[in-house]
Amino acid sequence: MSVYAELKAMLAPFGQEHLLNGWDTLSPEEQNTLAGEIRSQDFETLNKLYAEHAGKASDSHPENDEFSPMPFSLAEEDPRREMWEETGNLLLEKGEAAAFLVAGGQGSRLGFEGPKGAFDIGLPSKKSIFQIQAERLLYLSSRAGRSIPWCIMTSPLNHEATLEHFESHRFFGLERDSVRFFPQGMICALDENGKALKSSAGHLALVPDGNGGCFQALARSGSLAWLMEKGVRYVFLYSVDNILVKVCDPAFIGFLAGDAASASASKAVEKRSAEEKVGVFGYKNKKPAVIEYSDLSAALRDAKLSGGNLAFASGNIAVHLFRIEALKKLEHSPLPWHSARKSAFGFSNVWKFEQFLFDAFPLLGSMKLFGVLREKEFAPVKNAEGADSPKSAREMLGALHREWLSRAGAPVKTGKLYEISPRLSYAGEGLSKALFERELGKDILEFEE
Ligand code: UD1
Repeated sequence: MSVYAELKAMLAPFGQEHLLNGWDTLSPEEQNTLAGEIRSQDFETLNKLYAEHAGKASDSHPENDEFSPMPFSLAEEDPRREMWEETGNLLLEKGEAAAFLVAGGQGSRLGFEGPKGAFDIGLPSKKSIFQIQAERLLYLSSRAGRSIPWCIMTSPLNHEATLEHFESHRFFGLERDSVRFFPQGMICALDENGKALKSSAGHLALVPDGNGGCFQALARSGSLAWLMEKGVRYVFLYSVDNILVKVCDPAFIGFLAGDAASASASKAVEKRSAEEKVGVFGYKNKKPAVIEYSDLSAALRDAKLSGGNLAFASGNIAVHLFRIEALKKLEHSPLPWHSARKSAFGFSNVWKFEQFLFDAFPLLGSMKLFGVLREKEFAPVKNAEGADSPKSAREMLGALHREWLSRAGAPVKTGKLYEISPRLSYAGEGLSKALFERELGKDILEFEE
């Protein structure tokens, strides 16, 4: 059977044979590429998704879903915090924890073309987001006496550029063998009538399958097996854009390790306002879940407790920790799909489908919240200006590091902000007046906004 006939037989049952229009005008290489893209898609699922979603007015929750809040308490104020930290450090020393970064998104909202992690937010050190995270891992690795495995999910759209950023910076001093990159899956966009779209004669209109594609991508790339072979038991899963992220936070690791009944744990902050664009933790039909900001009805978003505080106030900062058994389970438990209609590939009203990684929580059924303070752990870079921008992130990091220094007795200047290299300190420990005087202008930089 010719390749054309094979593909036609594959597409016909789903009414998608139009994808082969113009086949004869393509070169053999182009035919090969298109054939590969067609074979990568599950058209049965695509048709099902269209049938399910096209019939609904919106992607938000059906009226009969029942939501209730999931409050959190601050880990910092918990008398067990020190114990959690000790346990976490011990687990890092034993090689039982790893980091997993989902970095398949683009920095488009920032107006940046490349991978978001390669963005320099304008700190005096000019470090990229990837470098800041790499150096925090390096610090923990040297303290633990072994390197911490780091899995990085890219997308086919930014995979090469991500690798190139690491290569050109010599992996920021990390051992190359301890970092694994793999692209997430892509899913074909559909037109208004459910027909699969092409972006050009030789290519399908493929879009990343959402950060929820991370569980499949981890397994498919062999990285889950790689982690298991290494004896990893806890995986710190996080988003790329938070400048204050405490990658592989030992206290957080110890917190989950101490609670055998929970499959995962997530960090939460108090929402800044009802309008803040963060998902909230809650129970959906009695199962733990994140309700995305775009899916939260105005009534729930604005609902208040008797004291006046927001009822749904536990904000998702996209910092999670999973037991490895949970990740193994998720390899075989498909997540639901969300849909959006957007202009793309020169068409309007295109159907795009994606998965959200937090939809793993209802499937796993047992999770715990670890409350943290925004000013210490959550400075996202999402917009070019205003809230959650490079400027606001610089201000937050600068103020936090200033606070660390002043607590250590360093003579910080009024009106100045500071950037301390993660080579010196992970969370404010190990600083002193003498160190400040020695490192100012080197690993400690002064700036103002
Ligand atoms: C995300 C959360 C939101 C949370 C907020 C905190 C989701 C769906 N939403 O929102 O609940 O309050 O972070 O900052 O997670 N990514 C991929 N592949 C994709 C799409 C995204 O790897 O196909 C990665 C991005 O590179 C990024 C992360 O997922 O690291 C978050 O993605 P983004 O779409 O920017 O979500 P937010 O709107 O920031």
